[in-house]
Amino acid sequence: MSAIEYQPLGIGPVTIPNRVVLAPMSGVSDLPFRKLAARYGVGLVVSEMVASKEMLRESRQSARRMLFAEGSGPVSIQLAGTEPEIMGEAAKLAVDRGAELIDINFGCPAKKVVRKATGSALMRDVPLATEIMKAVVGAVEVPVTVKMRTGWDMHTRNAVELALIAEDVGVQMLTVHGRTRCDFYTGTADWNFIAGVKDAVSVPLIANGDIRSAEDALSCLNTTGADAVMIGRAAQGRPWLPGDVAHYLATGEKREEPDLLQRWSIMREHLEDMMTLYGANVGIRNARKHIGWYLTGVPGAAEFRNVVNNTLDPAVIAQELVRFREMSALAGSR
Ligand SMILES: Cc1cc2nc3c(=O)[nH]c(=O)nc-3n(C[C@H](O)[C@H](O)[C@H](O)COP(=O)(O)O)c2cc1C
Repeated sequence: MSAIEYQPLGIGPVTIPNRVVLAPMSGVSDLPFRKLAARYGVGLVVSEMVASKEMLRESRQSARRMLFAEGSGPVSIQLAGTEPEIMGEAAKLAVDRGAELIDINFGCPAKKVVRKATGSALMRDVPLATEIMKAVVGAVEVPVTVKMRTGWDMHTRNAVELALIAEDVGVQMLTVHGRTRCDFYTGTADWNFIAGVKDAVSVPLIANGDIRSAEDALSCLNTTGADAVMIGRAAQGRPWLPGDVAHYLATGEKREEPDLLQRWSIMREHLEDMMTLYGANVGIRNARKHIGWYLTGVPGAAEFRNVVNNTLDPAVIAQELVRFREMSALAGSR
């Protein structure tokens, strides 16, 4: 397979240097995770979804979600909400906090989100979704983007309709996850359906769903005709993956996966950054899932995981990290 021609992607004044985007993932793609993904060369990282009402209350969680590391590329902040005026106000605040792109969430399938008539529920309420897009586009100077699913369910796959409206009201880029809300994460993402959305619009479109490797990315780009791909779950425990995929798309060359010691040092940095961001207790708790992902399939990791899962004492974890590093060094590379 050959590389596609490498060109940055321009969205108004914003330049995305390559064709791979890290998916927004609440509870996963926080500042420490995005910082790592950016370091390995992903073109764009997007904040976890921020609830617009909470943002206006300036809650600690929403403030944290809007933090971006220096050098992480364009700052894209994703908003969720159901009231157009509040979404507009939240967008202004996000721009004040440094957003260079505002992304609107029409894709989240979670019950607690849908119950509030937000996220993917808005795909069932096109008039309200339209008002929200208009309000946000009208409130800020920066480009507004929208992330959606293919529709609510298999009988109402209206992503083309919504995408055309989005384009009409001034949205400058779209992301489509190739599942319906009712699919949640089951089945496979329908890249052919995404191709239909891409055909219908002229703004850049990012294809999303089930991209786990460089080959998947190329195949998804070929199938959908999309301008870029977005990678979510496959980057869990592998924050280097989106950058590796971008490198492959740009050059046709595959980068080596980090060896055990390199992974150890990425994991340690990730854990330390989480403790700094959330404080030791919450940081350790939140880091456990990442550690589980980093160590999937790593021999001898069970003991390390066991210690980390049963202590909130940073000193114990630091000691165990050293022991685990020595063991990884003994195991050699890979
Ligand atoms: C844990 C988790 C949290 C997510 N949170 C968000 C979110 O805050 N905003 C959003 O638009 N999508 C969210 N998503 C959806 C992803 O952005 C992406 O669309 C989905 O995972 C499909 O891509 P993938 O197959 O590469 O994982 C989340 C997904 C996961 C697994």
